[in-house]
Amino acid sequence: MSNLELPPEVERFYSETIDESERLSIAADGRLELIRTQELLRRYLPPAPAKILDVGGGPGAHARWLVADGYEVDLVDPIARHVEQASRICRSSVGDARHLNAADHTYDVVLLLGPLYHLPDPADRRQALAEAHRVVSPGGLVAAAAINHYASLFEHAALAHLHTERMQASISEILRTAVYDGNRGFTLAYFHRAEELADELRRSGLAGVTVFGIEGPAWALLKAVEQRDPVALDDALFKSSLTAARLAEPYPELLAASSHLLAIGMAH
Ligand SMILES: C[S@@+](CC[C@H](N)C(=O)[O-])C[C@H]1O[C@@H](n2cnc3c(N)ncnc32)[C@H](O)[C@@H]1O
Repeated sequence: MSNLELPPEVERFYSETIDESERLSIAADGRLELIRTQELLRRYLPPAPAKILDVGGGPGAHARWLVADGYEVDLVDPIARHVEQASRICRSSVGDARHLNAADHTYDVVLLLGPLYHLPDPADRRQALAEAHRVVSPGGLVAAAAINHYASLFEHAALAHLHTERMQASISEILRTAVYDGNRGFTLAYFHRAEELADELRRSGLAGVTVFGIEGPAWALLKAVEQRDPVALDDALFKSSLTAARLAEPYPELLAASSHLLAIGMAH
């Protein structure tokens, strides 16, 4: 039986260390993540109005455009600050992906764009996916994002951090264990391989599971360049990175190059 408490380092990270409301709008790699997540989800979403539960929806970066597209969105997140920020966009409440308050089959779509990042115990991820499946209607969609197993390797190589022994040790440990302990910088996190994410969705009973690379192969380059110069949306490097993510889509071997993965499955 897993413990439903949020790890204190995750609570602290989102309540005090960072302001999650800016993550997808300020940095170029965040904007790339937002644009690609939007275009991938829009391919699958039923026509509006439909009912969407955004689990781990944070301050509502996705709820905002979904509401603008005409969807009825409810958001659940364990961080009180996120719930308050999201309440300006949609109905929002404090809750945990592993135990949803919603009744069975009440949503057309359930989004898990964040909870799996912070559930290193496979039993917790199983429970979160089982809950998503329980509350979605037959024929509805579950979309779950994950951080890629190799994301920290690409990121810290591009940011020129890997030459220090401390960073080499830290990244080697993530590659070996798929877990970051949340000691410094980021927080407690789990790093998925694409096939593992697909298997987790299939084992929760979802059908027709497909996994996409969200940002494609150039996100770390974008992030590194932005350390020196801002990269605007109309910058050739941004457009080129977005094009690379789209061109990479048909090639499963390139899933490993994205920072995040998005898996989509159907309830039946
Ligand atoms: C990186 S943020 C993503 C927020 C938003 N979904 C997005 O894509 O911009 C990860 C989110 O997962 C939430 N989270 C962490 N553990 C969770 C859990 N056990 N259940 C639900 N949400 C959780 C965090 O509070 C945070 O809002």
